[in-house]
Amino acid sequence: MIPLCIPEIRGNEWKYVKDCIDTNWVSSVGSYVNLFEKRFSEYVHSESAVVTNNGTAALQLALVTLGIGAGDEVIVPSLTFISPINTIKYVGAEPVFVDVCRDTFVMDAEKIESLITPKTKAIMPVHIYGHPADMDRIMEIAQKHNLFVIEDATEALGSTYKGKMAGTIGHMGCYSFNGNKLITTGAGGMFVTNNLEYGTRAKFLSTQTKVVTENKAFYHPEVGYNFRMPNLLAAFGVAQLENVEEYLKVKKENAVYYNEFLSEAHGITLPIEKDNVENCFWLYSILVEEEYGITRDELIQKLNEEKIEARPFFMPIHGMPPYSDCTHGDLSVTGELYARGINLPSSVGLKKEDIEAVCNVIKKYAK
Ligand SMILES: Cc1ncc(COP(=O)(O)O)c(C=O)c1O
Repeated sequence: MIPLCIPEIRGNEWKYVKDCIDTNWVSSVGSYVNLFEKRFSEYVHSESAVVTNNGTAALQLALVTLGIGAGDEVIVPSLTFISPINTIKYVGAEPVFVDVCRDTFVMDAEKIESLITPKTKAIMPVHIYGHPADMDRIMEIAQKHNLFVIEDATEALGSTYKGKMAGTIGHMGCYSFNGNKLITTGAGGMFVTNNLEYGTRAKFLSTQTKVVTENKAFYHPEVGYNFRMPNLLAAFGVAQLENVEEYLKVKKENAVYYNEFLSEAHGITLPIEKDNVENCFWLYSILVEEEYGITRDELIQKLNEEKIEARPFFMPIHGMPPYSDCTHGDLSVTGELYARGINLPSSVGLKKEDIEAVCNVIKKYAK
């Protein structure tokens, strides 16, 4: 089987994890926790970074740090993994769904303003599959309407927008280190911000708002959260981060191979990289158009029969029971992309021959 996206573990992971075990620093404090935060903020060029136990927790942390809660609305795409939407619900706010762009698959900034109400507090772009949303336009709208922007950059680590790392352009950004992400800690996440006050507050909230008194007792002035990452996993993350540039380079090279092999496949639309953007191509994704030889689902079936894992785009969240009553604008592109999109194998360990094999199946069924 050529898998969709599996981790690449080839660096100092074992050495650093062993160090935690040898020194007995396995839990949620330890030098690797601080080191991972420091190295990560250096890599993405953010002022502050707070490591969390997963990406979902990082997103929830962003919302609670901003005090977003009951009665508030957050504008978010429906074409996404469900995490960002769930976190809006966790804090008691309501998601309002905005459509996406056909070429980049991410939030359509031009459709945001019509959804803004007096209850709107934030915009949450989700840079799915790697291409960043139009952050200049989103920040402009946010500024005009006095809104916060929380970037879900869980799938876009290493992507850039006008030279800035995805996740560092909004007021806050969040990443995931789930096993399928560019770098992994098994499970984990990171919250980043360029506002030191938010960074300090997020760390405080994520560690049970714990204050150690003079006599070493714990005092908690507010309801806090246990969103901490154990030192063991942070050690793993430090090792993964040492290879992030290399992994990114491979992902981009693999996208070029895909583009070359599929350039003549009639009825297949390839992913793009807009001007001033670098796409990390976390998952290389294509659209199966009407004029292709078979349907999108039939193509997934054919790929699976050839032992190639492929998956349809995210099923839109506004059609799911917990969110079917939520407000939304026109979501026609969202529906169309769901019907046409396929994620193709994108692991860092993928070989050029594997990519050719995937593309040969796709070309075989083109008209
Ligand atoms: C777009 C998106 N947001 C949030 C998350 C949540 O990350 P985690 O699984 O680490 O909680 C994921 C994926 O895992 C994701 O793909």
